[in-house]
Amino acid sequence: MEIRGRQGHRVIIADTPQAVWQKAAELFTLSAAHAIAARGRFTTALAGGTTPQVLYELLAADKYRQIISWEKVFIFWGDERCVPPGHADSNYRMIADTLLSKVPIPASNIFKMYLGDEQPAAAAAAYEHTLMQFFGLNSDEKPCFDLILLGLGHDGHTASLFPGSAAVNEENALVSAAYVSTLASYRLTLTLPVLNAAARVVFLVTGDSKASVLYDLVADPDKCGIIPAKLVRPAGELLVLSDKQAAKYLLN
Ligand code: 6PG
Repeated sequence: MEIRGRQGHRVIIADTPQAVWQKAAELFTLSAAHAIAARGRFTTALAGGTTPQVLYELLAADKYRQIISWEKVFIFWGDERCVPPGHADSNYRMIADTLLSKVPIPASNIFKMYLGDEQPAAAAAAYEHTLMQFFGLNSDEKPCFDLILLGLGHDGHTASLFPGSAAVNEENALVSAAYVSTLASYRLTLTLPVLNAAARVVFLVTGDSKASVLYDLVADPDKCGIIPAKLVRPAGELLVLSDKQAAKYLLN
């Protein structure tokens, strides 16, 4: 089923989380094929957290692993916790374990966001430099990722753009380092100008616990100042993939 939110979000509602992953894997594969056919490469920034893990495992399984030209896929992170890459909380480790260690992608196509011992601000500046170099940007340009995958936190954060964080208001930098008081930890995140420059942004939202925040994201016009995820309004396509549980307030 597909519906339109009051602010124009295209929401595809699948019956089960497994159906969401299947749809997301198809979308990832299609996005990659189109980008590679058009420009010879596919650039994507992946989401961390727990929601997308099954998707990454699906992409590493035979059906999709064999049809994606991994040597032309370039992997970046939407955000990262400031912990060593081998740490249990690392988004790098999660994506390496579920996907990158299982597909034939060259190590040079993988761009870690945090190496493990840098000061957060220095790591953000270094990643910004990596983006500038890779995309061949001038100082006022933003990278156009072919696909950015995002999760949605219960408080309306996405990537590591948390309510009240200065990173939400960043209009120039490509990458921000932010101390997240609710987590008592530093995070790195792509900024809204980068998210909004993407050709396609897909939110992955599943489970009953996300029903309220998903309603806020796509149906409640009053939460604009509070829900950082509502500020994701890319020039390209914006899509929400959810299951019926997360979409329950949108369906009645
Ligand atoms: C992270 C993510 C973060 C995540 C949301 C939802 O580093 O944790 O990038 O933005 O997508 O917090 O997390 P869950 O998928 O675990 O609910």
